This record gives sequence, C-alpha cells and structure tokens, in this order.
Amino acid sequence: MEQQLVQQLPSTGVGSKLPHLAECVYLDYNATTPIYPEVSEAMKPYIYELFGNPSSVHAYGQQTRAAVDKARQQVAGLINCSPDEVAFTSCGTESDNWALWGAVMARRGSSSSSSSSSQQGLPHVVTSQIEHPAVTACLRSMAEQGLCTFTAVPVDSQGLISVTDVVSALTPNTVLVSIMHSNNEVGSLQPVAAIAAAVRQAAPGCLVHSDAAQSMGKVAVDVQQLGVDLLTLVGHKFGAPKGVAALYIRQGVQLANLLSGGSQERGRRGGTENVLLLAGLGAAAELAQLEADATAAHMRSMRDRLAAGLLAALPRHLVRINGPQDSALQLPNTLSISVKGLSAPSLLQMLAQKLAASAGAACHSSHGPAVSPVLQAMRLHPDYAVGTLRLSTGRHTTADEVDRAVTLIVGAARKQGLEFGSSGSSSDTANGTAAH
Ligand SMILES: Cc1ncc(COP(=O)(O)O)c(C=O)c1O
Repeated sequence: MEQQLVQQLPSTGVGSKLPHLAECVYLDYNATTPIYPEVSEAMKPYIYELFGNPSSVHAYGQQTRAAVDKARQQVAGLINCSPDEVAFTSCGTESDNWALWGAVMARRGSSSSSSSSSQQGLPHVVTSQIEHPAVTACLRSMAEQGLCTFTAVPVDSQGLISVTDVVSALTPNTVLVSIMHSNNEVGSLQPVAAIAAAVRQAAPGCLVHSDAAQSMGKVAVDVQQLGVDLLTLVGHKFGAPKGVAALYIRQGVQLANLLSGGSQERGRRGGTENVLLLAGLGAAAELAQLEADATAAHMRSMRDRLAAGLLAALPRHLVRINGPQDSALQLPNTLSISVKGLSAPSLLQMLAQKLAASAGAACHSSHGPAVSPVLQAMRLHPDYAVGTLRLSTGRHTTADEVDRAVTLIVGAARKQGLEFGSSGSSSDTANGTAAH
C-alpha cells in the first residue's frame, strides 16, 4: 500500500519539476507548499464519489470513516504516537490556540484559585519571543481577558532559545510551556527535547507544547523522543492542502475543548470531518515518512546551492546569513539572507511575477511591521533587517530554478543601486558555508 503511493506517479517524486511552477520560481515553501501530486491523487475519490458522513453507519459513511481512520493512522505514524492521540483541526492557528487556551482553561477549571482575580493566582505560560502569531497573539488575547499571564523568553543572535532561560521563567503557577520546534523565518531548530526534560524535572505537572508546523517533512519529529504533551502540525507546510492540521494530545492530558458540538474527535472537537482534506493530510504524512531522508537531502542541496550562488555574486561585505551557524540546528530548506542597503520588500515587489519568496514571514508581511519581530528579537541591525529575504526550498525545487533565482535577485539588487564594487563576484567569496 505504502509503495503504491510513491510508485503510482514515478515522475512526480522528490526533485521533479511541477509544470504549474514553470513561470515564477517558487522559493516560498515555508509560506505554503504546492500540493504534492501523490497527495492530489489520494484526495480525488473524496471530491465526488465518496461523500458520506463518517458518523453515519451506512455504506457511504463507512467509506469515509475508513478514510478518516486511515489519515489518523498515517499522521500518528509520522510523529510516532497512537492514532487516538491525534486530533484533527482546521489549521495550525487552531491547533496552537487549542493547546494554549485548552491548557489554561483546563487548569482554571480544576483549580480553586480560578475565581481569583489577582494576577498571582492566574495560570502562567512560558513561551518565546520568536513564536508564530498563532501563539503570541493568542497569549496576548488571553492575557488581556485576564485568563492568564505569560513570559516570552528571548533568543540569541542565531535565533536559538536557551533551556536555562525557559526553566528560569517557570513560576509555581506555570501550567504550560510552548516553544516552537523550528522557526519559520530563520529555520532555527529549538532544543525542545531538552526543554521538555528540564520542565518535567523543575515543574512536574506543567504541560509542554511545541509548534512543529515548519518541521514536518523537513526533519524528524518524534513525540516520544521530544517528550512533549502537545504538538501542532500543519498540512500545507508539507504537501497537503491548506485548511487542515492536527494537534497531538498525549494520552491523559487534560485540555478544555475549543469547539463544543458533536462527538467527533472522541468528543474533543465537534464538527463533521473534512474527509477530502484529511485524505490529503494522511497521504502527505505517509509520503513525508517514506521519503524523509531523500526530501531533506534534496532541500538542503538546493538551499546550499542558492546560498553559494548568492554569496558568490553579491558584495560579500554587505551580506549576512541569519540563523544557527551549526547546520544541525537548522532546517534543511531555509535561507534567511540579509543584504545591507537592499530593500527586500521592493525587490520582491519588482520580481513578483518571476520569483516567489518572502521578506519576513508571509503571514504578517502585508500588515505587520517592516522589521519582523523574529529579526528584532535576534537584534539584527535595521540596515540588514530591511534587506532580509527568506528563501525556502522544497520537494519540487530544481537546480534550474535556484540558478534563475540567483540571477533575478542579483539583477534586482543592481537595479536598486547596490554598490557591487570589485569584490562582487570574486571566487574567494563563493563559499556557501562561510556564513550561517
Ligand atoms: C510556525 C507556524 N505556526 C503556525 C502557523 C499557522 O498555520 P495556519 O496558517 O495553517 O493557521 C504557521 C503558518 O505560517 C507557522 O509557520
């Protein structure tokens, strides 16, 4: 069965070119991935023929119930948990909100101090300064409503969170620690396993959540190895459609329901299952597991080719690469590169029909601050921050696309009047490993 998924469409695997990505080079896989061809195939029966409500006992319901069960098993296989511990949601934001709100409300419900209006009695959450808005905005909103307090720990200049900082932020009221598995802008992989172990020791009973939206399909995510209680994964970051995600809820963890309704998701989240999207999520999870090494190696080689090409062509003294220097602490697909004197938003505007990439995170690029909170937290100088491009490669990135992207970016930088001088293309600066 598993082999069928990959062999069905032999010309569509890792590294293959997708015809609909021909015109505009797509280097924005951290914003969203294209739906992988095998995933699209797996969804087809549920667009038209197989339509029953999975809660119905008749034949039509049984067909879609089987699809939902299969998807749950596929997702559980990817993160190494029991299918009963996987709850499906509508997006990463919902999974994150559910983990935070659910943990806080469960504690308020079970604690006699829940009626206390004093700040001291409120449940407390520890998070970081570089979380996605799905975490930070939710916590801010809960704090404004007087439901909890929270502490956001800083990061170092490489975008890494320290275990000691997290432990130091714990208070007797801390009910949850929420630290992302990897960062969407600079690709830093956080020491989640070490954080979970330290929290367990310092604050028994405190839950640990990790937003692994950006990690799925790029690096191994094993909830047993991580030791987390809650984990967010998001379909459209690894080849499934948008609008489907999951929350891992370790067996025995008390979480208040965000959506109350029918008995779906074992009574944890009402609402008729989105069978079509779940078939896609399951297929993407199975593919990610089957192809883990090949996909990571491909993304890495494309990312490194991109970095080497840009470092060779741009004035080296004006360029810096953001994120961990140790490649073991970085996502294999993400290149955050800053060019002093460049306006990344203008460059992307200029190239909008030819190159798809981001200046900061896509989710807040249209109405957010010019300098992203992540780069601010890393204390990147504003001259570099404004010239920061986030380029992210993926399963279907080709060498030709990477080379075209380098030419386009360098050409646009020249048009912006960037001073290339004589060092611009000298070969001794063409070292993709020089800066990270
Ligand atoms: C780290 C991270 N968490 C959460 C989300 C939110 O996912 P969604 O847009 O599906 O709600 C994203 C999406 O960009 C993300 O990158």
